[in-house]
Amino acid sequence: MDKTLIAFYSYTGNTRKLASQIHSTIGGDIIEIETTVLYEGDYNSVVKQGKDEVTRRYKPAIRPLSVQLDKYDTIVLGMPVWWYTIAPAVLTFLTENNFLGKKIIPFATNGGWIGHTFKDIKELCPDSEVKNEINIKYSGDRLSTSMKEIEKWMDDIK
Ligand SMILES: Cc1cc2nc3c(=O)[nH]c(=O)nc-3n(C[C@H](O)[C@H](O)[C@H](O)COP(=O)(O)O)c2cc1C
Repeated sequence: MDKTLIAFYSYTGNTRKLASQIHSTIGGDIIEIETTVLYEGDYNSVVKQGKDEVTRRYKPAIRPLSVQLDKYDTIVLGMPVWWYTIAPAVLTFLTENNFLGKKIIPFATNGGWIGHTFKDIKELCPDSEVKNEINIKYSGDRLSTSMKEIEKWMDDIK
């Protein structure tokens, strides 16, 4: 049987909340990707720092994962979009680990500008099957993609 891991990074909580809902619906295991050094300062200064990190393709150190990835066939990978791509912590996660032969199902929360997020994941994981990606839009902390669409996606990936 396929074993599924939900792995997510979240800075302001949108992706965390959604990951937990997805976990209740589809089951499997769940882990949070966390940077060893937390982002500090107000939202706008983190937005600025994020731009600098994305531009430099900076890979912040992340905490050791609490599971062994080779136990899983499918990774449901959640992240916020930072400057039209994956948040830096997810860049670290994808480059530091081996996803050979695994299925990766990305969900990306964002304010409406997803940019090249999914294309970048596919390029970073050429030996994985990246599929069923979903773009989940928020207005601040309010979901603007319909729950119906998300429920249908959860049904498809179950
Ligand atoms: C550093 C930074 C950069 C962001 N860049 C984008 C972007 O390029 N496009 C977009 O639609 N939203 C962008 N956002 C908004 C977040 O993607 C959105 O609020 C997301 O749902 C936050 O998820 P989280 O609460 O799990 O951290 C950015 C937010 C931050 C903090």
